[in-house]
Formats: sequence, structure tokens, C-alpha cells
Amino acid sequence: MGLHLLHAQLLLLILLILVSRSVSTQANSQRAKQNCMDRCGNVRIPFPFGTREGCYFNESFLVTCINTNSAFPKLFWRNFTFQITSISLKGQLRVLQSISKYCYSRTGTQPEPKSINLPFGFTVNDTANKFIVVGCDSYALVSGSRREKQDYITGCISLCKKEDLAELSCSGLGCCKISIPTQAWSVDVKTGSFENFTEVSDFNNCSYGFLAEESAFTFNASSLSTLRNVEKLPMVVDWAVGEETCKEAGNNISSYACKSENSNCYKPNNGYGYRCYCQEGYDGNPYLKNGCKDIDECNNQTLNICEKDCKNTAGGFKCLCPKGYHGDGKKDGRGCIRGQSLVLKVATGISIGITLTVVAIWWLCFVHQEKKLVKMKHTFFLQNGGLLLQEKLARGEQSPDGAKIFTSTELKKATNDFHDNRIVGQGGFGTVYKGFLSDNTIVAVKKSKQVDPKQVEQFINEVIVLSRINHRNVVKFLGCCLETQAPLLVYEFINNGTLFEHIHNKAKASSFSWDMRLRVAAEAAGVLAYLHSAASPPIIHRDVKSANILLDTNFTAKVSDFGASKLFPIDQTQLSTVVQGTFGYLDPEYMQTNQLTGKSDVYSFGVVLVELLTGKKALSYDRSEEERNLANYFLSTLKQNNLLQVLDDSIVCEGNSEKLTSVAMLAKRCLHVKGEDRPSMKEVAMELEGLRLAGKHSWNQTEPIEEESESLLSGKMNAFAIATGEGSSTSIGYDSTMDHISGR
Ligand SMILES: *[C@@H]1O[C@H](CO)[C@@H](O)[C@H](O)[C@H]1NC(C)=O
Ligand SMILES: *[C@@H]1O[C@H](CO)[C@@H](O)[C@H](O)[C@H]1NC(C)=O
Ligand SMILES: *[C@@H]1O[C@H](CO)[C@@H](O)[C@H](O)[C@H]1NC(C)=O
Ligand SMILES: *[C@@H]1O[C@H](CO)[C@@H](O)[C@H](O)[C@H]1NC(C)=O
Ligand SMILES: *[C@@H]1O[C@H](CO)[C@@H](O)[C@H](O)[C@H]1NC(C)=O
Ligand SMILES: *[C@@H]1O[C@H](CO)[C@@H](O)[C@H](O)[C@H]1NC(C)=O
Ligand SMILES: *[C@@H]1O[C@H](CO)[C@@H](O)[C@H](O)[C@H]1NC(C)=O
Ligand SMILES: *[C@@H]1O[C@H](CO)[C@@H](O)[C@H](O)[C@H]1NC(C)=O
Repeated sequence: MGLHLLHAQLLLLILLILVSRSVSTQANSQRAKQNCMDRCGNVRIPFPFGTREGCYFNESFLVTCINTNSAFPKLFWRNFTFQITSISLKGQLRVLQSISKYCYSRTGTQPEPKSINLPFGFTVNDTANKFIVVGCDSYALVSGSRREKQDYITGCISLCKKEDLAELSCSGLGCCKISIPTQAWSVDVKTGSFENFTEVSDFNNCSYGFLAEESAFTFNASSLSTLRNVEKLPMVVDWAVGEETCKEAGNNISSYACKSENSNCYKPNNGYGYRCYCQEGYDGNPYLKNGCKDIDECNNQTLNICEKDCKNTAGGFKCLCPKGYHGDGKKDGRGCIRGQSLVLKVATGISIGITLTVVAIWWLCFVHQEKKLVKMKHTFFLQNGGLLLQEKLARGEQSPDGAKIFTSTELKKATNDFHDNRIVGQGGFGTVYKGFLSDNTIVAVKKSKQVDPKQVEQFINEVIVLSRINHRNVVKFLGCCLETQAPLLVYEFINNGTLFEHIHNKAKASSFSWDMRLRVAAEAAGVLAYLHSAASPPIIHRDVKSANILLDTNFTAKVSDFGASKLFPIDQTQLSTVVQGTFGYLDPEYMQTNQLTGKSDVYSFGVVLVELLTGKKALSYDRSEEERNLANYFLSTLKQNNLLQVLDDSIVCEGNSEKLTSVAMLAKRCLHVKGEDRPSMKEVAMELEGLRLAGKHSWNQTEPIEEESESLLSGKMNAFAIATGEGSSTSIGYDSTMDHISGR
């Protein structure tokens, strides 16, 4: 704002300087045509005016200088009608013009009406001039013609009393002043008196009417008498070099008056004709060829504001800046700016540009990457059956507090980006990480292998299965994340390890009492029985083993890994294409027939019971070939009535041999080669619960061990064991759903 004001002021200043300069330097520059009289006394005669043919633009501009050799030569115009006192190239000239008077005396003299006629191109200036009537019993009329407008007639009345003359301005008392219309070229003035000054004759007996430059006449009381001796007053006349518009004039070069280079045409503000002017920075006569001359601003301190090093240019000037500054200093003397040359500026600009470009590209890449990531996540989500799961969840196929679909970001945060120090278990099937959700829930996050696209539906079904089971002895399934390539499964975190650890880790096993073992067995059996019968539809676990039974701090059993689990209608068997499970726990009948029933779980659970009893691993290469498979080994021991020999030392000494024997017998029944002969899971659970509650029920049904089962098992199991090693037995509790599916 302030800057703008400053600029405006500077501009004004410069304009003023230019204007005053053009007046002052008028004396120095050529204004008339060559070999033409260019002045008459004090009056300059610029072209288009001239004193003889060849010197003026046309006859209307003919002026005559007389008494050229005297001290006071006079310049006349229009055959001596007007004396010219000044001519301006801005389009005005000043002429002396007679006053119209009406004076009364006893002899009585009537005045001649005064009239003015201006030639084409000339008009009375309507702003500088005023029509003035002076007198105390007076009036005057002014009338005439205008250029492109109607004729006009107007007038002024001036009355006064003697006392009024104290008023010293032309305000209507003794003096009346009006404007005249624009473009007037003829003026007739008629002056008169209303009562021949009867009332005012002692101080006024004349009326005066005249059209004159306003500034040339100042009214006061003495004007009433002094005007009587004044013949003429100056009047401003406007001139134009043509009557057409600038555009029209410009079309005819031969008649176009603006002959100079750097000149232009403009329309006078009274709207009549056209005139020429020199462009800014030039001065001279625009009507002459090469009339507009460059102004050397540097020669005049007042025209440039340069402190030093002013350099004149065509139409302007420049200030050269001292070292360390740059700028042209034009118009503003302090246009010099410290430092930064243009080159530096450009360099800065370029470097900023490059930086911005780089940032923009980086940003685009980032956005692209993000988009790609989101797209990838979505692809994985779809690939992993996300829509199917969503649909099922929406259909309400879940328990109220059922599975949730986690985002990958959420789980990444929970597991500290799957940091190694968060790994709580690792097996052939995947890795389990401990994670903390934002609500401080501790979870186990299982990272599985990629899902087989063909098995997607099944995978989802099983996720649904998991989400449905809400049992105190089942590891709670919290949800999954399908946005990653390998789906992530989220479970409640069980912090006391697996049953496997508590049996086979010497230190833990010693404090793992028989009562605790029995309770864990009863709980595990109970939940499996529940899954087999009470759950709807029934669920077969298919991978019961000690490593899949987790324990919390209270040694409550938590069955986990339903990866291989199957939903199936009750009392029906199903054919599965690929046998699943862990070697050492696998139901031999199922292995042969591929017929899946709840009895397969019973067999596997039998093995777990044997583990609990003996403290030995289900499959161990530390043992001899015949003893390698625990089930076979156990059965043969029973056959030889050597039960006590194989029982875990830490549980034998408690004087509970009866209970131990009962459980051993139960285990034996579970390990029947024929599924039909095995008890149901429900029966197993009830028996264990009974034993746990100290019911001293005796189960002394010693059945002969069928030879066929022995032979069926021994060879096969060894073959499997060799093929797979013990890897499966180290797989941890939160086993992967994926492994089982992809293995199919
Ligand atoms: C410089 O310009 C000023 C203002 O226009 C003027 O009054 C003065 O006479 C000029 N001086 C010269 C040497 O031209
Ligand atoms: C000027 O006066 C002379 C003689 O009086 C006359 O011949 C001439 O036409 C007049 N010129 C103009 C422009 O009135
Ligand atoms: C004024 O004087 C003139 C000439 O003496 C006379 O013709 C005229 O009638 C007078 N007017 C008045 C109003 O007295
Ligand atoms: C009136 O006019 C006469 C001459 O006609 C003059 O002598 C006289 O001084 C004038 N009176 C005034 C007051 O101007
Ligand atoms: C009236 O104005 C003139 C010039 O116009 C001046 O010389 C004169 O002194 C003035 N008289 C009074 C009374 O102001
Ligand atoms: C002189 O020039 C003016 C303006 O262009 C024009 O109106 C007028 O007719 C010209 N007069 C003569 C005699 O050529
Ligand atoms: C241009 O002006 C000349 C001289 O005034 C004139 O003779 C000619 O007719 C004009 N041409 C046009 C196209 O108006
Ligand atoms: C009338 O005169 C004034 C002052 O000299 C000038 O500013 C104005 O432009 C003139 N009018 C015309 C129409 O030229």
C-alpha cells in the first residue's frame, strides 16, 4: 500500500518535472519549420503555426508578426482580428479579446456588439475561459455556434447596491460569472442595462460583458470604473490539427499531422478533432518530422534521481549501480538492490526449481508407492478370501465376540514390525510373535505361509470355525489379517508354554504332578468331546498332540491349532484326500482308509495320555526301532505287563498306582487300531473327569492286544518318521492353519 503510494508520488513528481521541463526547454529546441520565423518578440511560433506559406500547416494557422524590428513586435492572427500572446504545443493559444461595454451618459452611446469567429480547428476553451458580466444594473447575452453541436445562447445578470461592493469576489453582486458550452467557435456578446443606471449612476454607469481567461480578471469594487479603460483581455483558444478522429487521421499518412517519430495522436478533452504529442521521455514538436527529441535526463539533476552514473537512453535513463548492487535505478534513484545480481537470481531460481521438482517427483513416487501398497494389500486381501470372510461375518456366522479382521498396520505395530525378539515360537509351519494391541491386549500373532488360492474357501471356513469356538479350554481366536501375502492369525496369548514342554522338559516335568496332569488331560478331553458332539456342526481337531495343548499360569488346558480341523455332520464319516496330522499321533486306521471320524482324535489323545504317563515323546529316535513309536512301545509294554517300568518316575511315587493303571487302560483303549473299538471322546472325558474327582472306579478290562494293530503300526510309522524327522513334534501350539491346507 505504502509502496504504491510512493510509486504514485514519484510518478507524479516525474510527470511534473517533464511538464515544467518541456516549458523551460522550449527555448532551446527547434519548434518551427526550418527557415521559418520561430518567434515574434516573446511569442514562440511553433509549427503548425507559421508566418508564411510553407511554414504553417494550413491557412488557419497563418500568423503575422509586425514591428519585427521594434522592441515590442506583435503577433496577429486572422487578418489582425486577434493578437496572440502565446502559443502552446499542447493545443492552446492565448489571444487578446475586446470587452463589450454599454455605458450611459446624457448624450447616450450604444455600443457595437462584439463578435468572435474562429476558423475550422479552433474552439473557445471552455474550462480556462469564463463569461463575465460586471455592473450594478447590467446584463449581457452570449450566443453563437458550436462545432459538432447545437447553437447556444446564454447570459448573465449583474445587479448591486453601493453597500454590496464590500463583497470582493465575482459572486453575483456587481459581477456575474458563468461557464460557456464546449466547442464554441463563434461568440456574440450583447451588453445592456435595465434602467440606464438610474439608481446607481453615482458609482456605476457602464455594463461590461466579456469572454476571458478566468485567471486574467479579478473582480473588486474598482473594477466597475477601471474596466472602462481596459480594451482587451486574454482568452484561451484551443486548436486541433484535424477534425477527424485519431484513427481516421492515422489511415491517411499524407495528411496525418503527427509526423514525428515517437509521437502519438490524441483526442482533446472537448472532443473536437485531434492533436499530437511526444511520447514520454521525448520532447519537441510532434508535428514536425523528427520533431520529438529524446530528453537527456542525465543533463538535468531534477529530471533524474540517480546519485551517480546516470546513463541516458532513448526515451529514458538508467542509473548504473555501484559494485555489489544491481538494478537500473530507473525512476527510482534507489533502484539499486544490494547483492544478488540477475545471474545470481536466476541461479537461485533454477536451484529452487530443481529442488521443487525433486520434491514433487519424490512425492509422486511416494504417493504411487502408497497406492501400490494399498492395491497390493487389497489384492492379498482378495486372494486370501477376504470378501468371503467379510460376507460370512456379515451373515452373522460367528459368535458375538467373534473374529475380527485386523489391518496389517495394526499388527505390524503390535509386533514391533515382526521383530525377532518378539518371536515366541517357531516351527515348520510358521512363526508366532508376541504382540501388544493398542488396547494393551497381549496376543499371539501367527505368520503363516501363503494361502493356496484353490483352498481359499476352506481356509475361510476354518477361520470361521475358530471364531465360533468359545470355550474356556480352547485358545481364543481373535481374528486375522488378510492384507499380507501370508495371512496373519491372531490368538489370545497363553503364557505358560505347551503341555509338551511340561512333560518333556526335565525341570518342568518334575513339578508337573500327576493330579495336574490328570486335570489337564480331563480338560483337554472335555473340550475335544465338546467339539465332537456339542459344537454345531461338530468339529474334528485332526491334530491332537501335546504340543497343541497350551497351559496358562493356572495350568488350565487350552487346546489350539484348529488348522486341520473339519466341520462335519454328526455320525457321518468323511473321506479326505490327504492324510493329515503329526507322526506319532496319527490314527493308523485313518492313514489306511482316509476315513475321517472323531475316533482319529481319540487315538491321538490316547498318545497324549501315554505321554503324560510315561514322560516319553510320541516319536523318538533316541529309542530303539521297536520303541521308536510311543504308542506301539506302550502297547507292547502293557502286553508284557511292564507298565510300571515305563511310567514317569515323577508321578509313580505318589501311591496312586490305581489311578495310573486306570488311565493306562483308558489310553490302551484309545489306541485301538480299529476306530470302532475305541471309546468316544465323550466317554474318555467322562472317565478322566471321574478319576480326577477321585472316583476310585476301576477299569480293569484287560483286553488282549491285537496283533494286527501292532504290525499295522510298526513298519509304517517308522517309514513316516524317517521321511519327516521330528520336525512336526517341535511345531508349536499355535500351529498354522495354512500348513494343513496347503499340504492337502
Ligand atoms: C532542469 O529541469 C528543471 C525542471 O524541469 C528546469 O527547471 C531546469 O531549468 C532544467 N535545467 C536545465 C539545465 O535544463
Ligand atoms: C485579410 O484582409 C485582406 C484585405 O483586407 C483580405 O483580402 C483577405 O481575404 C483577408 N483574409 C482573411 C483570412 O480574412
Ligand atoms: C436608456 O437610454 C437610451 C438612450 O438614451 C434610451 O433609448 C432608453 O430608452 C433608455 N432606457 C430606459 C429604461 O430608460
Ligand atoms: C458617467 O459617465 C460620464 C461620461 O459619460 C463620466 O464622466 C462619469 O464620470 C461617469 N460616472 C461614473 C460614476 O462613472
Ligand atoms: C482591485 O484590483 C486591482 C487589480 O485587479 C488592484 O490593482 C486594486 O488595488 C484592487 N482594489 C481594491 C480596492 O482591492
Ligand atoms: C485547415 O485545417 C483544419 C484542421 O485540419 C481544417 O478543418 C481546415 O479546413 C483547414 N483549412 C484550410 C483552408 O485548409
Ligand atoms: C489523404 O490526404 C490527402 C491530402 O489531404 C488527400 O488529398 C487525399 O484525398 C486523402 N486520402 C484519403 C484516402 O482520404
Ligand atoms: C483548455 O485550457 C486548459 C488550460 O490551459 C487545458 O488544460 C485544457 O486542455 C484546454 N481544453 C482543451 C479542450 O484543450
